[in-house]
Amino acid sequence: MGKEPIYSFASGQSSLPADILETVRADVARHQDGLSVLELPFTCREARAILHETEAGFRDLLSVPKDYEVLFLQGGAYAQFGILAMNLGGDGRIGAYVEAGHWSRRAVREATPWIGVHRAALGDGLCLPLPDKWDIPPQAAYCHYTSNESAEGLQFPAEPHLTGAPPLIADMTADLLTRPLDVGKLGLLYASSQKNLGIAGVTVVIAAKSLVERCAKDVPAPFHYGQQARERSKVNTPPLFAIAVAGHVCRWLIAHGGLDAAAERNTRKSGLLYSHIERDGFYSSPIDPAYRSKVSVRFHLPTPQLEERFLAHAREHGFLHLEGHSGVGGLRASLYNFVTLRAVEALSEFMKEFERTNG
Ligand SMILES: Cc1ncc(COP(=O)(O)O)c(C=O)c1O
Repeated sequence: MGKEPIYSFASGQSSLPADILETVRADVARHQDGLSVLELPFTCREARAILHETEAGFRDLLSVPKDYEVLFLQGGAYAQFGILAMNLGGDGRIGAYVEAGHWSRRAVREATPWIGVHRAALGDGLCLPLPDKWDIPPQAAYCHYTSNESAEGLQFPAEPHLTGAPPLIADMTADLLTRPLDVGKLGLLYASSQKNLGIAGVTVVIAAKSLVERCAKDVPAPFHYGQQARERSKVNTPPLFAIAVAGHVCRWLIAHGGLDAAAERNTRKSGLLYSHIERDGFYSSPIDPAYRSKVSVRFHLPTPQLEERFLAHAREHGFLHLEGHSGVGGLRASLYNFVTLRAVEALSEFMKEFERTNG
């Protein structure tokens, strides 16, 4: 009998399609001029081409307006929590924050040394505060929110549209490139790469030039948006391998119908899982249906003992990394861009069988 396939529902690093892995294998073995992508100096022509092509991929997929910069930085999204406030804070400025879950709480904590934090709205972990109720002081330097709270399994259905408000800034680590996005509604967005953009190692920052031009002066050079923009993300050695993989991801998405098609795939996958979770009360989701995430599906079983048992059985059958976030508990299936519908169908079948034998 053949071995059972293995499906990962990890929150990052996430799955990649076989054809991207194949391309990456070829890049590692030998890039165009005979050097492996792992050996390229960042000053050479090939490295510049990788940066250029990956930027072009993001611009194409997201129709990034011309007056926006695309930067490739390091330190993950976590580092951006502080770096952002360093760049746009100072001189007694305040930043408005929508604090609606684990990651936005961290964003607030990391920003606090660099900017006066004003809480524009608070969430209860089960639904999200509506943008028209956000209390944003008109003098705020920006308003920050987290588009997908991956720990709780919450997601804003679309980017908020606020007129006359300070620039909106979004942590899109969990859902960038999973659905269409109107970049022009935001002043700045950022996302680390290990969920939907490839492997860990690069953080994409897309920012209006008008914001980049107003960064504080006393920010360390590798973190300074303005300086990184002027030097095309090469203030110091960029993480070329992760940037190259992100480029492959962009080209794959473009070849497979762009972000409309990605959204359709992600809606289908999460729809299948939620409908299964809601079937008869054995599995449950505590999240308000209007804000259920299409990429971070959180669910529970009737008791913690059954959840433990479920995880152990799931592992035995090749369904990996279904543990809930450590701060939230329960179970979570992360369905990022390259988790396949087949994987979700197989998980649903497994859940059905587990319920039949344990329900
Ligand atoms: C919404 C969100 N923001 C930030 C982070 C932190 O990202 P990183 O580990 O790349 O710093 C995560 C990680 O899961 C996340 O889901």
